[in-house]
Amino acid sequence: MRAFGRPQGVLGRLGGAIMARMNEPLGNWVLDLLAVQPTDHVLEIGFGPGVIVRNVSRRAPQGHVAGVDPSPVMVEQARARCASAMQSGRVDLRLGSAESLPFADNRFDKALAINSVQVWQEPSRRSTREIRRVLKPGGLVALGFTSYSGQSRDGLLEHLSGIGFTAPEMKETGNGFCALARKP
Ligand SMILES: C[S@@+](CC[C@H](N)C(=O)[O-])C[C@H]1O[C@@H](n2cnc3c(N)ncnc32)[C@H](O)[C@@H]1O
Repeated sequence: MRAFGRPQGVLGRLGGAIMARMNEPLGNWVLDLLAVQPTDHVLEIGFGPGVIVRNVSRRAPQGHVAGVDPSPVMVEQARARCASAMQSGRVDLRLGSAESLPFADNRFDKALAINSVQVWQEPSRRSTREIRRVLKPGGLVALGFTSYSGQSRDGLLEHLSGIGFTAPEMKETGNGFCALARKP
């Protein structure tokens, strides 16, 4: 947990550097699945070292990227990585968690979490209902996992449809998988 789950201290800094190298390919694949558009407003939950936030901001130069992560070490790393986009106001990275997202209803076109759901304190209804709340009608959610994340595919799609998402779909790639669904 101190290195990867909720990074803290020296181990957390090291964990952030490792995740920045290892998780980017899966994160970019999830961005392809979401088909991020230049004007999209995107939320990443549990952004870790901020590599995917940075990549979203490049794909959505006229849009906006927001994120929450409860680890001060990760917020610091991600803010440093996204400094220029933050200065221009296109990126907003906050200390916070999935259980209580500090954003208005119907705010985002797309929301994603990579290798994060498995470490949320309350991984079921409260957090995913929060994601549903902040997505615009028609907005997409993507929960992506590398094959070494420890997360099982079982029940993910049922969970998303159980809280009112539609068109749940499991996508597979060589090094992981992603549950996708849409807010009606
Ligand atoms: C294994 S890391 C993955 C980081 C990044 N998404 C990646 O793929 O490299 C898990 C991240 O989820 C964050 N996290 C832990 N609990 C969380 C929660 N309740 N809500 C949101 N993020 C959380 C951690 O602080 C950490 O940055």
